[in-house]
Amino acid sequence: MEQLESVRKQFLTDIESFPENPQDIEHLRSKYLGRKGLVASLFALMGKATAEERPALGKELNLLKQDLTVKFDEKENIFSTSQQSAEDDSIDLSLPGKTPRIGSIHILEQTLSEIKDIFKSIGFHVAYGPEVDDDYHNFSALNIPEHHPARDMQDTFFVDPTTVLRTHTSNVQIHLMENEDPPIRYIVPGRVYRNEAIGYKSYCLFHQVEGIYINERVSFAELKGCLEFFVKQMFGPNKKMRFRPSYFPFTEPSAEVDMWDDERQQWMEILGCGMVDPAVLENVGYDSKKWHGYAFGMGVERIAMLKYKINDIRLFYNGDTRFLEQFS
Ligand code: DAH
Repeated sequence: MEQLESVRKQFLTDIESFPENPQDIEHLRSKYLGRKGLVASLFALMGKATAEERPALGKELNLLKQDLTVKFDEKENIFSTSQQSAEDDSIDLSLPGKTPRIGSIHILEQTLSEIKDIFKSIGFHVAYGPEVDDDYHNFSALNIPEHHPARDMQDTFFVDPTTVLRTHTSNVQIHLMENEDPPIRYIVPGRVYRNEAIGYKSYCLFHQVEGIYINERVSFAELKGCLEFFVKQMFGPNKKMRFRPSYFPFTEPSAEVDMWDDERQQWMEILGCGMVDPAVLENVGYDSKKWHGYAFGMGVERIAMLKYKINDIRLFYNGDTRFLEQFS
């Protein structure tokens, strides 16, 4: 009985020193209630008691065990609820949430769809063609002879001596006309590649939209009207543009369209165009006496640069989200 009382006292001082954390409580619990704990050793002493003493002792011991269990449970509860309320305090409901980053359509893709929509609205169909092509479709069929400087190693990425990464989307003019009888009216968006010096307006790859219209009567005035309509739709009615005489092997006569670059205060070329050369029509088996047409090829990056005041073509390709986010 004396030992039992001393264990109880010891427990009261231990528990009053208030364990700091769940581990301390656990530790104390096993000191008293564990298999080799103080209470268990009291039970072990029962063997030494007489038969008359045993029932009273047993009752006291069970009471002690019960008391201790209740106390430990209480402490543990206090601890876990105070822990929980500390956690509740740490949730500041007024803080802004973590917003997931949402991607956006690349500004080039946006520009491309604007261009497509404008031409679709005046009867053009959209077609695509190969980025890797033979030199016949990229050059010869377009009336670019074997030793023309456009074929120079400096400008063209060769896959093998007769296969190239297309240098323009004009190769698709040939594929379309080979596969279809006139009249035809297509635009062809796509990627092109050039091995040229990289600068603010030139990159080793870029995008073009080719246009081709073949019919029985097609005039240069229609070509001008079509491109003026496009520019007005794309840039609004007040943007300055000009047609400038030019030369392309696959058109005659040929012209280029420049737009006024407000940022740099100078003209910037956005497209080449012209009346499809009869030699090209003959190459695809069209009767050049009967069929005429115009064609054009525009630089998508340059159009986006002018429209959205982007001062360097390389920005389209380096994936910097600070740039891309401005167009989301
Ligand atoms: N293919 C030419 C280039 O890459 C652009 C061009 C000019 C396309 C005149 C045409 C055209 O269809 O008629 O610079």
